[in-house]
This record gives sequence, C-alpha cells and structure tokens, in this order.
Amino acid sequence: MLRAEHLSKRYRQGEKEVVALLGFTYAFPKGATAVVGPSGSGKTTLLNLLAGFDLPSEGGVYLDNLPLHQLPEDERARVRLEYMGFVFQQWNLIPTLTAWENVAFPLLLVGRPRKERQERAFALLERVGLAHRLHHLPSRLSGGEQQRVALARALALDPPVLFADEPTGNLDAESREQVATLLFEAGKERTLILVTHDLELARRAGHILHLKGGRLVREETPKAKG
Ligand SMILES: Nc1ncnc2c1ncn2[C@@H]1O[C@H](COP(=O)(O)OP(=O)(O)O)[C@@H](O)[C@H]1O
Ligand SMILES: [Mg+2]
Repeated sequence: MLRAEHLSKRYRQGEKEVVALLGFTYAFPKGATAVVGPSGSGKTTLLNLLAGFDLPSEGGVYLDNLPLHQLPEDERARVRLEYMGFVFQQWNLIPTLTAWENVAFPLLLVGRPRKERQERAFALLERVGLAHRLHHLPSRLSGGEQQRVALARALALDPPVLFADEPTGNLDAESREQVATLLFEAGKERTLILVTHDLELARRAGHILHLKGGRLVREETPKAKG
C-alpha cells in the first residue's frame, strides 16, 4: 500500500517561495483514487513525490512501509521500475521501437529472456485491443492507440501501483472512453492514482481527492457506479 504522511513541497523561485503542496496525508487503498483540482493546485507535484521522482520538503512516502523518500535516487528508480507503472498525457513511447518492443522494454530492463518478453508484450497488446498493431512504430499509430501501448507498457511488470497523469487529455471522445475503461480495469487489482481535471473520469474512481492551493480540501467517495 502507498501512504503519504504530512507531505509538503516548497519551491524557491528567486526571492519567493512557492508552496506547491502542504501537509498532505493519505493512505491510498487498492482500486482507483482520482486527484482533482484546478491548475496549479499541486496535482503533478503530489504525483512526482508519490513516485519518488522528486523529494518532499517535509513528510514522507511509504510503499508497504518502505520509506521511499529516504532512498537514494538509484534505489527509487529501481522501486519505480518494479512496483510502479506510469501513463502520462504525453505518450513517451520510444519512437524507434515497435509497439511490442515498447511494451517489452521494462522486461528488457530487468533482464527477462526474449521469448518471455515477446509473449508478455503480445498478450498485453492483445488485452488492450492492439493484437493487429504489434509491429507498428508509434508514428504509425493513432493517439488512442499510442496511449493503449503506453498502458500495456505500464503493466509489463505487473506493478502494484499505477499512476496516470491526465491520461486522456489528448484524446478524442471514443479513444478517451477506450483508454478510461482499460485504465479502470487495470486499476481494480492495484492501486491506481489518477490525476485529472476531467470530473466525469474522476467520478468513476472509488475515491476522489480535491486539491486546492496545495492542500487536500475534500475527500469524496462517489456512489457505486453502474
Ligand atoms: N519546479 C517548480 N519550480 C517552481 N514552482 C513549481 C515547480 N513545479 C510546480 N511549481 C508550482 O507549484 C504549484 C503546483 O504545481 P503543479 O503541481 O504542477 O500543479 P497542477 O499539476 O495541479 O497543475 C504551482 O504554483 C506551480 O507553479
Ligand atoms: Mg499538472
């Protein structure tokens, strides 16, 4: 389980200090938790701290009681690779690798043999409806297809924690629905943290956290959705 305790982040901007996040405490349960709030409310800052991309000014992040914020960068990177998956607004696929090679990339990083990498990547791409796109380069895929490749890649090492930052922000309505459905499906059995300004998307999560000015101002549990 992923837990944040009294998490704060201050940025120095010349003479000024920007408080991007202040005293954020929350234990993320299994299933989807959406983080919403206006632009500049601290959503991306929070995600960066939870994933250990960045370090808090105060407070801590615990992954199954492992203090992530106390680990050096290389160990945080290792924890990210093995325990966390990421789907961002920008797809960040490697342009010179095919769809399956992109999905298999995390498996390559942890030294899995080629046969296993290929089987796993093919199975994941099939799961996201892209069995017919295995050998395509990203440039030959639509935005929605690229985002589904990114989701398959995020799931390659079956991470218990999945982060998504505006994962549907760049997509048309139909692709948005496909990606959202797949994302929440993947989030059922893991901890999914979904940053979005799309309230409709957020309402499909089990919990909604409202950030404002860097503070957690409201926690909401939407009624069971149909
Ligand atoms: N690297 C940075 N340096 C200085 N200020 C930053 C930095 N990153 C974010 N901020 C500030 O922190 C606040 C929260 O930003 P952010 O977490 O990106 O909000 P959101 O993702 O909700 O739009 C904003 O006021 C932003 O300008
Ligand atoms: Mg943001």
